[in-house]
Amino acid sequence: MRRFTRMAGNVTATVLLMSGLAALGPAAPPAAGANPPRIDRDVFGTMPDGTRVDRFTLSNGNGMRIRVLTYGGIIQTIEVPDRRGRTGNVALGFNNLTDYIERSPYFGCITGRYANRIANGRFTLDNVTYQLAQNNGVNHLHGGNVGFDKRIWTTTEFRERDTVGLRMTYVSPAGEENYPGTLTTTVTYRLTRDNEIRMDYRATTDAATIVNLTNHTYFNLAGEGSGTIEDHKLTVNASRYTPVDTTLIPTGTLDPVAGTPMDFRRSTAIGERIRNNFEQLVIGQGYDHNYVLDRRDNTFRQLEQAATVVDPESGRVLSIRTTEPGIQFYSGNFLDGTLVGTSGRVYRQTDGFALETQHFPDSPNKPQFPTTVLRPNQTYQTTTIYQFSTTR
Ligand code: GLA
Repeated sequence: MRRFTRMAGNVTATVLLMSGLAALGPAAPPAAGANPPRIDRDVFGTMPDGTRVDRFTLSNGNGMRIRVLTYGGIIQTIEVPDRRGRTGNVALGFNNLTDYIERSPYFGCITGRYANRIANGRFTLDNVTYQLAQNNGVNHLHGGNVGFDKRIWTTTEFRERDTVGLRMTYVSPAGEENYPGTLTTTVTYRLTRDNEIRMDYRATTDAATIVNLTNHTYFNLAGEGSGTIEDHKLTVNASRYTPVDTTLIPTGTLDPVAGTPMDFRRSTAIGERIRNNFEQLVIGQGYDHNYVLDRRDNTFRQLEQAATVVDPESGRVLSIRTTEPGIQFYSGNFLDGTLVGTSGRVYRQTDGFALETQHFPDSPNKPQFPTTVLRPNQTYQTTTIYQFSTTR
């Protein structure tokens, strides 16, 4: 059975805000197997040009619920139980569209065409040099001035047995943000009975181009707005990382993590070494680094374990598997107390972390890195799964 609700198109922003807040209150988790999964839809807001932004609420009938916006494919909230069954929203975000449009540091969004940085916004492909927007100092960041995070995605919902999902499509015309090729991208989010958010990314092009897609959710497993994530314990399955220059562009080497505060091969509190006088941590103002995952499959087709985060206080656990070669660990360094989050609390530095599965930053200028070139006869395909559970 699928229940489908739609609110009237002329709902005022105030009402939307209130309904957003009301819906975020604590809810008792249903007994396992008690409820069928479902998808609901409401209107989240209106773009300055009048385009309506819808919001989908996906419930897995097993205590987990996520909200997704058609704007940027943004995951607005992720509600999961803690070890005592109390539900909390573990994704940083906003309760209104205006904040997403005007001041979001990429909360929850699909990031593209090129996630992370390209040095000087410039790359050469088949002897043609392309100049992209330099929207992060001298560098290009997360697809430019109007990246995939700021586009409206055509979204359809679906249900497959115990799983509910959204299929989101965006066609980026050739020359948009100065990238070559018309890029047709489909991102599918599935919420499974096993408390997984599965993300499948697919893209094709009509001319040679570059592509690197990810999702940029910031997590706080103790609940968004509850303070720092420095006590969260992180494991990253990587014995190397890509060190960066002072503008956060990889130097091009793959350095060992061994003997440095970059080493998360054994579960370690994020804050334990974050203030070490280690050059890379000084440059990043904390962790903001691409880890080179230790993979068995280097054709990047198999899902392999990438990272695990445990919040000892709530007992919530996040486990990440991916087909991608890298993962960007970002400790929320640029959160500076100027943003007010979904539940009305201020976000300060380290109040959330991101773990963005990806190809390495600046790959178009680093021939030694796995390629991010996509040609017309190829299909870009990657998968990442974020799974939630609890520990005692
Ligand atoms: C990524 C980058 C960071 C920062 C955030 C967004 O994680 O690596 O440097 O730009 O996105 O604020």
